[in-house]
Amino acid sequence: METKKLCVIGDPVEHSLSPVIHNAVLKQTGLPYVYGRVRVRGGETAAFLRRAAEEGYAGFNATMPHKTDLVELVDELDADAQLYRAVNTVVLRDGKIRGCNTDGRGFLQMLLEAGISPEDKTITVLGAGGAARAVVLKLAQSGARRIFVCNRTRSKAEALAKEFPTQITPCGLDEETLQDCALFSDLLVNTTPMGMHGMAARFEQLDFLAALPKGAAVCDIIYSPPETMLLARAKALGLSTLNGLGMLIYQAVFALEEFTDVKIDAQEVLPAVKAALNEAMNA
Ligand code: ATR
Repeated sequence: METKKLCVIGDPVEHSLSPVIHNAVLKQTGLPYVYGRVRVRGGETAAFLRRAAEEGYAGFNATMPHKTDLVELVDELDADAQLYRAVNTVVLRDGKIRGCNTDGRGFLQMLLEAGISPEDKTITVLGAGGAARAVVLKLAQSGARRIFVCNRTRSKAEALAKEFPTQITPCGLDEETLQDCALFSDLLVNTTPMGMHGMAARFEQLDFLAALPKGAAVCDIIYSPPETMLLARAKALGLSTLNGLGMLIYQAVFALEEFTDVKIDAQEVLPAVKAALNEAMNA
């Protein structure tokens, strides 16, 4: 059987873990695809799309700075890509270009696997950027009762709230606001890069965590380091914690399902993917 090409595009793209995850799943499932990485600069998205079609790519994933540009360049969008106005997965099939977004689905799957259902919950989300958009809108779609979106730049939280105004409340990121939101929250999710490996940005303080009710969960979509300061403090307070590794893996598995049109049993491939990621991240 002919081996088909897949890749991730971005700039920078050298450190993308997508090839590690996808190739581990491909090896495990025996699906006839290879997955590489291609550096594509901003402004060159359309040129790459043409090249991908000519070179017979079955599809590709997109990271910074292409996710938004792709929305206008594809023939059709799936419902999530349409709602988030961002594409992370492009499928080239039968001469058609389809843009999908698997980030929100990946995030939700991670929560459900951890035994956390957003339905009827009150949730605080820190950040209102691209990642927050997928997280917050998926939480709203999944029946969250109330979502406080706390962001340094309040106008961005307000813009996000307009999508589901009855469920989303825009807020600031100051300590007093965080305390107030935490008091009522079953779940708190960080989508900002504060605490990420290699980033200078840090939380000035984390006292708001103590305001969360007993039994609340704290999720950081950061996976490197595996335990951020936010998660370490939450754990010390006896709260359950979750990092972003599951989201990273599930968005990739869902993307691979889109590329191949084959249902993948995530539980079956998970150990091999985790082992490959461990090796790559500790290399
Ligand atoms: P991503 O696609 O990873 O979400 P992004 O769209 O640039 O990246 O969004 C980053 C988010 O983290 C934003 O909500 C940003 O806040 P602003 O909207 O005020 O810029 C937030 N963020 C980044 N650095 C931060 C910092 N040092 N303190 C507080 N918030 C920060």
